[in-house]
Amino acid sequence: MPLVTFHKHGQVFREEVRPNTNLVVRAGIKQFPWPNLNYQCGMGKCATCACRVIAGAEHLPPPNWKERKQLGERLEQGYRLVCQLWLQHDIELVQESQQPAAAA
Ligand code: FES
Repeated sequence: MPLVTFHKHGQVFREEVRPNTNLVVRAGIKQFPWPNLNYQCGMGKCATCACRVIAGAEHLPPPNWKERKQLGERLEQGYRLVCQLWLQHDIELVQESQQPAAAA
């Protein structure tokens, strides 16, 4: 079972998920802790779900055309669209604020 470690707003959430889990689907059914995951379209069109992969990127498939289009150079910084990922292996992700400069 893939172990997902998710960092958001300084908090760390961990959950074992079934193989082939999509975290945006988990968020969509309000499965804790995934309501903490920001997403919108679920279709690779908005990049709201973008997360930086801290560990486990080597197990992911190469970015698809939607990720390449939405993320551009952020791909090289380790970002992926989690709505486009069906997880098979352990992974550690961070979802940063949409406006990092706005921290008070
Ligand atoms: S939720 Fe819109 S791109 Fe992933």
